[in-house]
Amino acid sequence: MLAGNWKMHTTSAEATTLIEGIATAARAAKDREVVVGPPFTLLETAKRAIGDAPISLAAQHLHWEPKGAFTGEVSGEMLRDIGCSHVIIGHSERRQFFGETDATVSQRIGAALRVGLHAIVCVGESLEQRENNQTLAVIDTQIRGGLHGLDAAAFASLTVAYEPVWAIGTGKVATTEQAEDVHAAIRKQLGTLVGGDVAETVRILYGGSVKPDNVDALMAQPNIDGALVGGASLDPKAFSRIIEFSN
Ligand code: PGA
Repeated sequence: MLAGNWKMHTTSAEATTLIEGIATAARAAKDREVVVGPPFTLLETAKRAIGDAPISLAAQHLHWEPKGAFTGEVSGEMLRDIGCSHVIIGHSERRQFFGETDATVSQRIGAALRVGLHAIVCVGESLEQRENNQTLAVIDTQIRGGLHGLDAAAFASLTVAYEPVWAIGTGKVATTEQAEDVHAAIRKQLGTLVGGDVAETVRILYGGSVKPDNVDALMAQPNIDGALVGGASLDPKAFSRIIEFSN
């Protein structure tokens, strides 16, 4: 899975141009799934621009209630209604700036799965946590806190994205070894939650400064099953090259 997280970027004209610019690569990508995550306001525009191209539409966030007095929020039902099949949950920017916790991540995952949205669940440590050798403990807490109580069927509708916070938007990509180590640990943790067989089938994406020049090496790692891409997903040439990774 190659997923673009557009964050708070793009106008409607830019969104259309961007999708048109990656459609050729997406059509040629037979063994990989391409996902774009525009802001809420552009989901409908993006859906139209996608047309019949094999590109899935993700929202960047959702509320856990189906409807109600929650000013400023958007529900899973609304996302389905507008044509989303995927939703990003627990991105580090939500955790850092908007009070997202493992408990709210868990609620959002439940809501997404209830309406048939595929959840892309983000985890990752800060620089300070990495320097204090807390990476695996932090990831373990986030995985357990977010994914506890889910059965094997739920894991079929879920992708994990490992995004070290220090590598997001900084140009500092984790080394392939650093990423692979954490991905392998995540797979092991998933195994303790749901069993090794199911854990083997869960895709684990890497995110954090993925670019055309580092994607091939990352994707060659056995436990890296895709990428969640911020900055480079806003450039159709760069994202097309990421979709076309070779390993
Ligand atoms: P980046 O962002 O590719 O710009 O580092 C990744 C993300 O936050 O998903």
